[in-house]
Amino acid sequence: MKRISLTQHLIEEQRLHNNIPAELRLLIEVVARACKTISHAVGKGALGEVLGSADSENVQGEVQKKLDIISNDILLQANEWGGHLAAMASEEMETIHPIPNRYPMGEYLLLFDPLDGSSNIDVNVSIGTIFSVLKAPAGMSAPNEQAFLQPGSQQVAAGYAVYGPQTVLVLTTGNGVQSFTLDREMGSWVMTQREAKIPEDTKEYAINASNARHWFAPVQRYVDEMNAGKTGPRAKDFNMRWIASMVADVHRILTRGGIFMYPADARDPDKPGKLRLMYEANPMAFIVEQAGGAATNGKERILDIQPTSLHQRVAVFLGSKNEVDLVTGYHNEA
Ligand code: AHG
Ligand code: MN
Ligand code: MN
Ligand code: MN
Repeated sequence: MKRISLTQHLIEEQRLHNNIPAELRLLIEVVARACKTISHAVGKGALGEVLGSADSENVQGEVQKKLDIISNDILLQANEWGGHLAAMASEEMETIHPIPNRYPMGEYLLLFDPLDGSSNIDVNVSIGTIFSVLKAPAGMSAPNEQAFLQPGSQQVAAGYAVYGPQTVLVLTTGNGVQSFTLDREMGSWVMTQREAKIPEDTKEYAINASNARHWFAPVQRYVDEMNAGKTGPRAKDFNMRWIASMVADVHRILTRGGIFMYPADARDPDKPGKLRLMYEANPMAFIVEQAGGAATNGKERILDIQPTSLHQRVAVFLGSKNEVDLVTGYHNEA
């Protein structure tokens, strides 16, 4: 097999589609390099003393794991000095991180979930990093939080790295979805899938069923109908998977189809779902749509949502198109 590196792919894509200017290419390569560093830290586990909790809470009120903080620091340090960014924002930081004065400022905004799947770190189950890239509004000398509040349809790139049995980087710049496996000996990202396509139909769903008693009627109906199997209204059997790392669940769906759901529920009217719009839902929705799937909050396309705050949460239904359309239809009927 001819080996195509991430660098070669980005340069060829620029020639073909003219959508990856040099600064954006640098940005993606720097993020990919940071993911390599995180992958290395993850792989050391207890030997690197990276497991367990830190004595801190993030702005979401979650207890931070050591790796949440380590990964955040790796991404900040890697991206600060290159001159390609105007500012960064992260799940683990209350406010935006402007580029320090000593470095030149670029035109892009980078958002990330530095370590996704925190509850799986200590049990050696797949975890990952999710990132999203926006353009800073023109004419802004120093971007503020407002600059980040753009709908997901404005993303110029998005991706994730999954740290599993293999470390895989999945990337879109708006022309399909490409995957790269980390060659650990060479330290390079090698393309292992071109143009990922999510099948429109599926027999597999992912949801945290322990919340079933809190679900609203459309989700309850949709899941009940799947669980009714061959003799139910769907007339087929469905299988269920829930890894509890969004990256790993989405990666399975990108590989073999399925629907992933983290709905809003009756517990807290101020919290529409658990997942964060800016650094989880938007980048994943961009990737899933680029692979032929769909992503909604139950009612509307995630990429159309106008954000109102950096850490805003959103309900998420994404994956195989026909299933996402069906459950979205149930919400809109209600
Ligand atoms: P994070 O570790 O970045 O805070 O995100 C965890 C998210 C997501 O990865 C996963 O799908 C979901 O939380 C799992 O939630 P439950 O613990 O409710 O299953
Ligand atoms: Mn978290
Ligand atoms: Mn996450
Ligand atoms: Mn996280």
